[in-house]
Amino acid sequence: MPLILETIVTTLSPAGELHLVPFGLIGEEDGYVLAPFRPSPTIVNLETNPCFAASSPRDIRVIAGTVTGRRDWPTVACDAIAGRRLADSFGHAEFEVAAVEDHEVRPRFRGRMVHSAAHAPFIGYNRAQAAVLEAAVLSTRLHMLEPEKVLTEMAYLAIAVGKTAGPREREAWGWIEDKVAAALGPEARILGRDDR
Ligand SMILES: Cc1cc2nc3c(=O)[nH]c(=O)nc-3n(C[C@H](O)[C@H](O)[C@H](O)COP(=O)(O)O)c2cc1C
Repeated sequence: MPLILETIVTTLSPAGELHLVPFGLIGEEDGYVLAPFRPSPTIVNLETNPCFAASSPRDIRVIAGTVTGRRDWPTVACDAIAGRRLADSFGHAEFEVAAVEDHEVRPRFRGRMVHSAAHAPFIGYNRAQAAVLEAAVLSTRLHMLEPEKVLTEMAYLAIAVGKTAGPREREAWGWIEDKVAAALGPEARILGRDDR
């Protein structure tokens, strides 16, 4: 399996509007591949404006927020492409689409990195942030996964959140719990339940 980096990808719509969503960048020898499942606004955008930025957010609420209807995060103009990137990130990279492998389910857009920059020191990993990231991915796959599996994984991930979260991580976790609970029922509210 290739290395996959979880990032916030920003693209521009045909009308020039910003689209900001989390995507895994698939590492390849000569660059990174973006592989959105159809149907996808990101695919439409890349077909019109074949470039994208990928940012590593410092605030994990950006990842949890984008999959729970909170997509209004501050951005700034990119340096080397027409587009915008997350304002508050550890770093970001800008890509031009160098090749497209079309596919009826999941086309692959091969990105050629044209610029990258670091913006803030990365001091250490945080288990709660990793747990929120995992839960955010789960929350985008509720239609594909057995409810039992989702609830078991949420219960396990909640341990790291309970032990190592700061206020942002706890808030982000709450957004994901709300989404999963709305789909699968109140058993998904593992930490929310303790707070009451
Ligand atoms: C960390 C993370 C990584 C994700 N990676 C992908 C991915 O590689 N491909 C994909 O289609 N969706 C991925 N998703 C789900 C998308 O973010 C979500 O479905 C989003 O709405 C897709 O953007 P779109 O609406 O422009 O297609 C990921 C979600 C998270 C939380």
